[in-house]
Amino acid sequence: MTDAGREMLRTTFGQDAELYDRCRPGYPPQLFADLATLAGLGPDTQVLEIGCGTGQATLPVAQLGCSVVAMDLSPEMAAVAGRNLAPFPKVTVVAAAFEDWQSPDGTFDAVLSATAFHWLDPGIRMIKAADLLRPGGTLGIVSTHHIAGGTDAFFADAQRCYERFDPATPPGMRLTTDDETAEEAAEFERSARFGPITFRRYEWQQAYTAPEYRNLLMTYSGHRAMAPQARSDLFACLSHLIDDVYGGVITKQFRTRLAIAHQTAP
Ligand SMILES: C[S@@+](CC[C@H](N)C(=O)[O-])C[C@H]1O[C@@H](n2cnc3c(N)ncnc32)[C@H](O)[C@@H]1O
Repeated sequence: MTDAGREMLRTTFGQDAELYDRCRPGYPPQLFADLATLAGLGPDTQVLEIGCGTGQATLPVAQLGCSVVAMDLSPEMAAVAGRNLAPFPKVTVVAAAFEDWQSPDGTFDAVLSATAFHWLDPGIRMIKAADLLRPGGTLGIVSTHHIAGGTDAFFADAQRCYERFDPATPPGMRLTTDDETAEEAAEFERSARFGPITFRRYEWQQAYTAPEYRNLLMTYSGHRAMAPQARSDLFACLSHLIDDVYGGVITKQFRTRLAIAHQTAP
């Protein structure tokens, strides 16, 4: 993705922060149990979360008792996160771009980012995260992957809707169950600021009616950025499939992946 494309798409989430809050799913509880163990999260830890959205991962981290600075580029997303996290006095929500945000080096025991690290400037994100960590602190990157599974035949049929209405869709695209960790591992390694990487993955499913599925898609930047007429035609095509071919409900397969490593000295 070009820098300009990333800049444009990453600002789409705050266009409807309330919808994002209602319709974007959170993460499997086991992820936070593993984070607690692998990053040593607990009441004495200082955590920075980058791209907190409306608090999908912040809330379970706050429930571990950590002190959290939760940051989001979008003031609208940060405002909803602030509301959701109000019961946790050890959580501070900041509306800022990570790239511009200033904090003393070595401040945090853990830096986390859930489905947001890929939106940060690739020339800055690893080194700045490493600098913000205390020696031996932990960087945890959570990513979301749309994989084969669930109502497989629906997703194959849906590809025809995308090819018809979404010019950004690569022809013949199919979901797979491949676990592509090489690029993420390479970024940790290139930075030369982290020790060995541990990967964990969590697979889960969610059922959606047609209106629920449209709402989910409206939390994705690519769908938000489509031309309104093309998006409306795409959604009509997908809704027709769900309601008239698949009995009104489809199941989507998600993979959540955690990549975690400890900071080493420069
Ligand atoms: C896909 S959402 C993920 C939100 C939430 N963490 C979740 O798990 O659902 C990506 C979030 O990253 C934020 N974001 C994008 N670029 C950012 C940046 N440079 N600094 C801080 N936040 C950023 C967006 O505003 C958006 O809320």
